[in-house]
Amino acid sequence: MKYAFPDNFWWGSASSALQTEGAREGETTWDYWFAREPNRFHNGVGPQQTSTFYQHWKTDIQLLKQLNHNSFRTSISWARLIPDGIGEVNPEAVDFYNQVIDELNEQGITPFITLFHFDMPMAMQEIGGWENRDVVDAYARYAQICFELFGDRVLHWFTFNEPIVPVEGGYLYDFHYPNVVDFRRAATVAYHTVLAHAKAVQAYRAGHYAGEIGIVLNLTPSYPRSQNPADVKAAHIADLMFNRSFLDPVLRGEYPADLVALLKSYDQLPACKPEDGFLIAEGKIDLLGVNYYQPRRVKCRDSAVNPQAPFMPEWFFDSYEMPGRKMNPYRGWEIYEPGIYDILVNLRDNYGNPRCFISENGMGVENEQRFIENGQINDQYRIEFISEHLAWLHKGISEGCNCLGYHMWTFIDNWSWCNAYKNRYGFIQLDLETQKRTIKKSGEWFAATALNNSFDKE
Ligand code: BG6
Repeated sequence: MKYAFPDNFWWGSASSALQTEGAREGETTWDYWFAREPNRFHNGVGPQQTSTFYQHWKTDIQLLKQLNHNSFRTSISWARLIPDGIGEVNPEAVDFYNQVIDELNEQGITPFITLFHFDMPMAMQEIGGWENRDVVDAYARYAQICFELFGDRVLHWFTFNEPIVPVEGGYLYDFHYPNVVDFRRAATVAYHTVLAHAKAVQAYRAGHYAGEIGIVLNLTPSYPRSQNPADVKAAHIADLMFNRSFLDPVLRGEYPADLVALLKSYDQLPACKPEDGFLIAEGKIDLLGVNYYQPRRVKCRDSAVNPQAPFMPEWFFDSYEMPGRKMNPYRGWEIYEPGIYDILVNLRDNYGNPRCFISENGMGVENEQRFIENGQINDQYRIEFISEHLAWLHKGISEGCNCLGYHMWTFIDNWSWCNAYKNRYGFIQLDLETQKRTIKKSGEWFAATALNNSFDKE
């Protein structure tokens, strides 16, 4: 069967500043944490060892062109642009981002720019990070500076990438700095992130810039083990906590009432100001980026909660390992292609069918060198992964879902948070020693698909 996509469908990939650029003047929480606990990073490889986009941006954009990208998302590093988060703008950073944006546009690759991709400037973390409302204001200033500097040539802005991840990693599950385990503080961080998002949207609207503004959320459809009411309730609460805590404010302009009631009953609500509600209502977006990697399967808890243990989302559900599920064993994530369709249908039916696109989807695989044939990684598994997901996405579009594009994670194999270079995601293989880039089979497949705006599959 031929899967053809609508005209002007966005074909591309995503990356982020910290994971690709390399050396920078302003310190982030990642540099700080790595300097103190390198053992927390795979093979002791830290955020300085990247794919050196700062040096190779021009030839890398040539490679994007070779992959027939018509769009590409990366982020601006707040710490590079404003090293202390709040003070002077670094002119070298302005030059760098201007060159990248101009070159992308010149090559016919539309730049999609994220303002915050997990990379808090250390100076901002030192005053409390997202727990401090002053950081919300500093972020809003940073966003406005970016709109002023680049808003004439960047027409697709994203306030945050996966804002729930720093909440989970930094304040619940101990995989980002500052390694706090405290739900109320996590809720405050999440809430202030929504306020920061809304302030950036407000500034964007006030400036009457030419483009559109949105956010990128990692949506994990919550599937109950069964239709037993206890399992269904467990899945509903997981959905409230992990999806709707951001999805509802940015699309509906308010939090789900049952999420607020639940947190209130456990005394976990963050401190709110009366004017916050108006601000959140103004944070509604033009475009939603959906990152989809894995579903969330849950069941009701089998055991009682330990009342001495810290309050956690898992007080309301257990995770459920569905027999027969397909796994990506390297990352430990389930691969469930229909999830992409379920997300789009949920957006269509419950959120007014917003303009959206798949902003990340991908498969990290360890030790890909074993698949080298004639000097090239033959990653057939990645081609299957993409085409299966695209088939479900295509079904969603044919049923009226407003999905405008598909971006893969990622372009060139890049540094990944605590996993460093353990799992490779790229269309292009990176030799860490030489920095040599070699297009994988999946890169060729994607280039052909983007060129034809379609692909064939049985
Ligand atoms: C997304 C992030 O969560 O998934 C990326 O936006 C990240 O920054 C990607 O690299 C893959 O996840 P990981 O943890 O395997 O790198």
